[in-house]
Amino acid sequence: MLFTPLTIRGHRLKNRIFSTGHMTVMLKNGNPSDRMVAYHEARAAGGAGLIIIEAARAHPSGNSSRPSILAYQDDCIPGYRRISDACHKYDCRVFGQLTHPGREMSEAPDGTFAVAHAPSASPNERFHVTPREMPTAMVKEIVDGFGEAAARLRQAGLDGVEVIASQGYLLSQFLNPRVNRRTDKYGGDLTGRLTFVREVLTAVRTGAGEDMVIGMRISGDEMEHEGLEASDIVDIVTALANSDALDYVNVTAGTSAGLAGSVHIVPPMAVEHAYTAPFAAAIKAKVTIPVFVAGRINQPQIAEQVLGNGQADMIGMTRAMISDPDMPKKAKAGRLDDIRACIACNQACIGHMLRGFPISCIQHPETGRELEFRDLRPIATPRRIVVVGGGPGGMKAAAIAAERGHDVTLYESSSRLGGQANLAQILPGRAEFGGIITNLKRELHAAGVNILTGKPVNRRLIDDLQPNAVIVATGATPYLPEIDGAEDAHILNAWQVILGQGNPGADVVVADWRCDWVGMGVAEKLARDGCRVRLAVNGITAGQMIPQYVRDKWLGDLHRLGVEVIPYTRLYGADGDTVYLQQTTSGEAILCEGVDTLVTAYGHKSSTSLEAGLEDWVGDVHVIGDCLAPRTAEEAVLEGLRAGNVV
Ligand SMILES: Cc1cc2nc3c(=O)[nH]c(=O)nc-3n(C[C@H](O)[C@H](O)[C@H](O)COP(=O)(O)OP(=O)(O)OC[C@H]3O[C@@H](n4cnc5c(N)ncnc54)[C@H](O)[C@@H]3O)c2cc1C
Ligand SMILES: Cc1cc2nc3c(=O)[nH]c(=O)nc-3n(C[C@H](O)[C@H](O)[C@H](O)COP(=O)(O)O)c2cc1C
Ligand code: SF4
Repeated sequence: MLFTPLTIRGHRLKNRIFSTGHMTVMLKNGNPSDRMVAYHEARAAGGAGLIIIEAARAHPSGNSSRPSILAYQDDCIPGYRRISDACHKYDCRVFGQLTHPGREMSEAPDGTFAVAHAPSASPNERFHVTPREMPTAMVKEIVDGFGEAAARLRQAGLDGVEVIASQGYLLSQFLNPRVNRRTDKYGGDLTGRLTFVREVLTAVRTGAGEDMVIGMRISGDEMEHEGLEASDIVDIVTALANSDALDYVNVTAGTSAGLAGSVHIVPPMAVEHAYTAPFAAAIKAKVTIPVFVAGRINQPQIAEQVLGNGQADMIGMTRAMISDPDMPKKAKAGRLDDIRACIACNQACIGHMLRGFPISCIQHPETGRELEFRDLRPIATPRRIVVVGGGPGGMKAAAIAAERGHDVTLYESSSRLGGQANLAQILPGRAEFGGIITNLKRELHAAGVNILTGKPVNRRLIDDLQPNAVIVATGATPYLPEIDGAEDAHILNAWQVILGQGNPGADVVVADWRCDWVGMGVAEKLARDGCRVRLAVNGITAGQMIPQYVRDKWLGDLHRLGVEVIPYTRLYGADGDTVYLQQTTSGEAILCEGVDTLVTAYGHKSSTSLEAGLEDWVGDVHVIGDCLAPRTAEEAVLEGLRAGNVV
């Protein structure tokens, strides 16, 4: 069913796969840039049936520090036009998305706290904002703003407009009786609370004209304290669906109003695949317009199942195409094993976006860098390349160098490829991280790399092999801090615990310097094994260094398991049954008593012996990944791409 066309208001979508609106942080002066055009064009070329361009501001009062298209200005029209022209060449339809954040905004573009406008002065938990209640005249002005922005999308040649009523933004705020406490015609019972949304949709129809498709995005359940619930949403959509203004509804989940709901804006790997499909199905049972859905649908087989179950008509596969722009083409050709499935790590896509950087993918750093890597560098003559280390960095480097036509051999000292990703995937709830190994292995085989496992490489071997170039990707091992009193304490490092070595006792302190996945994962594993766990972190919170939605969900899970998180701590020492910590800002002691085992999660130390051995070697040497400096898989794969492309 995935490749059966669907026609909406005369617009034929060639298949059921679409890219949902997502902010790319690829703007120039608030308008789509060349980089954004190339990004979307790659997904259109890869076979997407529909691309919905990211949320754009419909009115200046909704402008925040989040870099967004300013659809309240005519300047946006040429950029939209270029995206639509680029995608139409591939028979891919293009819609624009319009929004207003209401109270869901923190900073203004200049870094001051913005004056947020909402239906009522109801505070928000995520950004700690108390908004101003919009005067009626302002409500009218924003309605007009949506209509005028829709007219700009029409002038740009787009095929449709999607209005965001999802995820707790302004339209959802009007719909929610716990947020909207107005006493004028925009508040009160459901009919009153629907007024603003109805006026927006009518204005958008007027601006967009009769030919454009108009849709509304909505959260099937906001999954948050005081959020809209599934039954509220079914009533809302049922009430709106019979209007001429609305051609489809696009179902997601969550809300930006709090930390539980915001996890579902971009659900991490701990959330089940296609979990939003039942919400879509509940709506589909009540309406006749097409129902779109998105949420952790990362493989065509899952998409096909949702369609086959009759739960939805169009399948949003956004990160699936961030991670593999060619996924639809490969699915159509039955090349399912060639698809680089998204692992929902949230690192380079939403992780970058939330930090204000252009989006990419840890598995496919070409994403967002289409202008740089659309074509790999051609080679004059094939060279013999040795890549040392079969972790993510070495695998990517080898695959790219071989794809360019070089004769590449990848040496891995252990018995299997994957490096540290082999450990990462054993952490509780993190099995999907192993997908990075599966996907890179596939790329190695497709590119024709010779793979030798169980083969450590040293300088002598390089002298024997005499390659033209060596890519050193030897990775890292645990950093072991010096600990006062260590001789009297039972101390393990995180890798030992992950590998089930060293018999941790019943009462454990995890000293987590790095504040990433490792400390949290080890704490969860030990708690699940029945230990009492104190997670002492050298930061403001556990998971400080990892993407917000991954961290927030995980902190909830750790709390449920009884793990005690102690922030702002530095490991000072240990003895028989006590771990000595120091509060990092006051310097005061914090004692953890009754401890059987101290586990250190102190990050990693680069494995540099081969690099040092090659110091006076005459050939071309490239050092990449954790061996260059211990960081994450994202940098390892990106540096692998760069090295494989220049070697
Ligand atoms: C438990 C855990 C969880 C993690 N979770 C995440 C996560 O969620 N997201 C993320 O981005 N990162 C995570 N990381 C970090 C990430 O796995 C590393 O940053 C990444 O694997 C580094 O890749 P690399 O290729 O540079 O090195 P490595 O993965 O360390 O691979 C190096 C490889 O080189 C081999 N080798 C070493 N010396 C030689 C030699 N002389 N000859 C031949 N082979 C050699 C090693 O055996 C190893 O297989 C995690 C790490 C751990 C330990
Ligand atoms: C980088 C990024 C930015 C996003 N920005 C938006 C946005 O502008 N508008 C929107 O409705 N959803 C946004 N989302 C949510 C996605 O549209 C989508 O619902 C989410 O990624 C889950 O779908 P998936 O599992 O197919 O990726 C964003 C997601 C990502 C990854
Ligand atoms: S960075 Fe991670 S979550 Fe984002 S698209 Fe790539 S694999 Fe998926």
